[in-house]
Amino acid sequence: MFSTAFLDIPALAGASGTVRLPGSKSISNRVLLLAALASGTTTVHDLLDSDDTRVMLDALRALGCGIDAAGSTLRITGIGGQLKPGGPMLPLFLGNAGTAMRPLTAALSLLGGEFELSGVPRMHERPIGDLVDALTQLGCRIDYLGNPGYPPLRIRPVDHGALVLDAPIRVRGDVSSQFLTALLLALPLAARKDIVIEVVGELISKPYIEITLNLLARFGIAVQREGWERFTIPAGSRYSSPGDIHVEADASSASYFIALGAIATGASGQDSIRIEGVGADSIQGDIRFIEAARQMGAQVDSGPNWLDVRRGAWPLKAIDLDANHIPDAAMTLAVMALYADGPSTLRNIASWRVKETDRIDAMANELRKLGATVDSGPDFIRVHPLERPGWQAASIRTYDDHRVAMCFSLAAFNPAGLPVRILEPHCVAKTFPDYFETLFSVAQAPEVPVICIDGPTASGKGTLAAEVARLLGYHYLDSGSLYRVTGLAMRRAGLSAEPQHEAQIAALAAALPLHFTEGKVLLAGEDVSDEIRTEAAGMDASRVSTLPAVRAALLALQQRFRQLPGLVADGRDMGTVIFPDAALKVFLTASAAQRAERRHKQLISKGISTTLDSLRSDLEARDARDSSRSVAPLKPAQDARHLDNSQLSIEQSIDQVLNWWQEKQPFKPA
Ligand code: DC
Repeated sequence: MFSTAFLDIPALAGASGTVRLPGSKSISNRVLLLAALASGTTTVHDLLDSDDTRVMLDALRALGCGIDAAGSTLRITGIGGQLKPGGPMLPLFLGNAGTAMRPLTAALSLLGGEFELSGVPRMHERPIGDLVDALTQLGCRIDYLGNPGYPPLRIRPVDHGALVLDAPIRVRGDVSSQFLTALLLALPLAARKDIVIEVVGELISKPYIEITLNLLARFGIAVQREGWERFTIPAGSRYSSPGDIHVEADASSASYFIALGAIATGASGQDSIRIEGVGADSIQGDIRFIEAARQMGAQVDSGPNWLDVRRGAWPLKAIDLDANHIPDAAMTLAVMALYADGPSTLRNIASWRVKETDRIDAMANELRKLGATVDSGPDFIRVHPLERPGWQAASIRTYDDHRVAMCFSLAAFNPAGLPVRILEPHCVAKTFPDYFETLFSVAQAPEVPVICIDGPTASGKGTLAAEVARLLGYHYLDSGSLYRVTGLAMRRAGLSAEPQHEAQIAALAAALPLHFTEGKVLLAGEDVSDEIRTEAAGMDASRVSTLPAVRAALLALQQRFRQLPGLVADGRDMGTVIFPDAALKVFLTASAAQRAERRHKQLISKGISTTLDSLRSDLEARDARDSSRSVAPLKPAQDARHLDNSQLSIEQSIDQVLNWWQEKQPFKPA
């Protein structure tokens, strides 16, 4: 997951390959609640692991459910519709998860305990009054702790005998379908007699109600439905665990990859995007995004649990769509509209205004930053396509809304070749923590950005480069470690850095069984991180690095580190030989005295005793060898920026490099 302040997505040109998507949020949280209310143990496969499911799981654990996770399966032992009596008031924090807040409000008001439900500030702006009104008609006791109509809420115990079950329970259906879902999921708890729910107003987002009914049926509850106005939960309904249940991949998450297939062509101009985990027979309403994508020109094939998407019409065809049935996925259409042959209109989407953020305003604002003309109203948005000269490089605000972050990544396919900056990219964790990694695993960029930091030994380039990489969310290459590992492999093979062994050492270098994980260097699975950091290993590295065949053998390996979204590479010849086209090259130096002193401190802190004088003469010997060798000697690239950090703190050096990088970016302020 990207936990950086922003993520710059370079201009993307194509995409092809296979993606597996995380489980559906809507299915996951419904299944979790049903399994928790049922008796017995339910094994849930492919559950979504995200912020919204985590808050639900935490809440269920607090209620006394047994929860056991193992890999991608989770076993939940339910409470059988009953809380242990007499527990203390339980505070439950539900983040920004509407799919936890609404159904838990309903279930907990019928379970009998005392609870306080709260969330992040935005959660406290998302309406819940219609649900509370419906529950209050029934006799439940719920108080608002902040603004009336909104969380946080206080729930007090009720006596089941006192519940008013004779009259139909009326609930509004035109603000959020989650209110009806919440009642349907929870009312079996009180089904001493038939319970009738009547929907007031036109029910929105009906497909989500279908998911609810489908899952209730799997847990043994057969709700009778008359149109979309009247639902009856039969007397005597009881939750019974299906034993095992599989969660489909999230169809709303699939929308980004369906759009990707429609927008991008593969490397050969032929390939497609294959999506695994969800197919056209999905129970999720957002699967109907496929129809809208087809209307815009996508070619979609599908089978059980897979979709295959490729570009059809190009530019895409503009659409005018009532998107009420696919409110979440329709945001993706708003970005696809930038690539269409005329203005596209999405109608009947008032619910966008009460989601994670006011999505109509958010989409309109951010699309305009890209240069688009956008009209919007209380329940619609119209997006005009962008011609090549109209595109602007933009810093996209994401409003703590995962879908804004995900759908705007598709703007990176702009024909102007501009990067897109996504602010606070970690908000995707709500439903799809590895969204960007998944996108990058199939996307192709004409130019993946590289920052090179070259310099002599002990100049601090490793620390600087690793930190710059971390702050930008880029990959990091410590090229010195490749020479160090080669030196180690040479020693272990009983060779020395002499010209007569050059071919053998080069062969070792070309086939190094090397892995980098969590800051560790593994050689054939063995952690050699410490062993390659000794002074002796540094000397060996310096010696093998003079052998031209060794350098040639390591060239392709180093270049393979250049992957989306970008790379920071440190070494001696990053800017001169390995990545001569790098967008920023820094040549980092410090005086020999300073460097010897830093290394001295480092070694002493590790309990290794040395003297300053011997360190300094070692450093100077290595500098001399590294700069005088015939191939790729240590020298600044012609276009390198020089940074002498003798007098700078590490933070100052980082700021300097980030400022230089920023100067090269086309982004306007957010
Ligand atoms: O950066 P370092 O001290 O870990 O590098 C060890 C040796 O590897 C260094 O003395 C020279 C060599 N090296 C190189 O020749 N080219 C690079 N890009 C990186 C390191």
